Amino acid sequence: MAKVHQMHLRILEELKANAGKYVSGNQLAAQLGLSRTGIWKHIRKLKSMGYLIVVHPKQGYQLCETPDLLVPEEVLPCLDTVWLGRSYYHFVQTDSTNERALHLAAGGAEHGTVVVAEEQLRGRGRQQRSWHSPPNCGIYVTLIVKNRLPLRMAPQCTMIASLALVRTLKKQYGLEATIKWPNDVLLGDRKIAGILAEMHSDEDYTRFVVIGIGINVNHRESDLEGPFRYPAGSLAIALRRSLSRKEVLCAFLGEFESLYEEFCAKGFAGFLSEFESVSAILGKWIKVLRDHEEISGTASGFTEEGALRIRKAEGETEILWAGDITRIEEYR
Ligand code: BTN
Repeated sequence: MAKVHQMHLRILEELKANAGKYVSGNQLAAQLGLSRTGIWKHIRKLKSMGYLIVVHPKQGYQLCETPDLLVPEEVLPCLDTVWLGRSYYHFVQTDSTNERALHLAAGGAEHGTVVVAEEQLRGRGRQQRSWHSPPNCGIYVTLIVKNRLPLRMAPQCTMIASLALVRTLKKQYGLEATIKWPNDVLLGDRKIAGILAEMHSDEDYTRFVVIGIGINVNHRESDLEGPFRYPAGSLAIALRRSLSRKEVLCAFLGEFESLYEEFCAKGFAGFLSEFESVSAILGKWIKVLRDHEEISGTASGFTEEGALRIRKAEGETEILWAGDITRIEEYR
């Protein structure tokens, strides 16, 4: 696990400010109040993390390539948030960022802590499914929020996170993503992201919620072969180019922060029409699995609390608070 190393941040800041040029060891040492050997030790560490730093015996150091990693050294300078991600944990590999976040939150991690991994060995999805998390091509991130929310608001955190991602993809990349209630983000009919929120609570209020988001960013078709329940896609496949994962992550965290603040102040109702406008199921015939029961009908809307209204063939409307949509058809 890595927390940000302030000295790394400052060395990288200097090297990036002098892009295409060498910065001498003496200059860095004087600016940062370290010995030249001290600077060299940090440079060696940065190189081992994947930074391509050319070392010239007389001229010093030049940064030639920055790795596409979600290390704090890369993410924090780009992050435009007030409280989200100000405490940032990065794992090269972990079991599940949700699992890490649950432990951190129970152990006193602050509100807004962000936990990121380059690879997950036991990434988990809803309904005890696993989340395919190959190294360095996706974003596997969990956000810890510690406001005391009435319990009915906890599942809405999932929808707020989906909405934040849809907004991010539209603003940054012009992509028109949709949401398959409650937690899947789709491009066309391919799932590109999923959200899993888990919480600890007392009787009426949450103690904390961890909101885990898995985004397929630079996955190629070959990374997506396997037993997926839905056709899976990625941002890179949709855009036909690879993306900087840190840019996606920072934009998403910024969007989530402002949306979440509004959500805490005003509730989910204010987002209802936007949520409906990006729904992948509204007006369509769907089949939902709730516990072991199958319910089918037309998705006719959502309640102000984020539950799904489904109009059954017999004409009666049922309200579903949870469930797994197993089929979507345009008409029936
Ligand atoms: C789903 O679609 O079923 C939800 C998938 C959620 C996956 C993310 S990846 C980051 C976080 N850590 C996990 O173990 N799961 C979530």
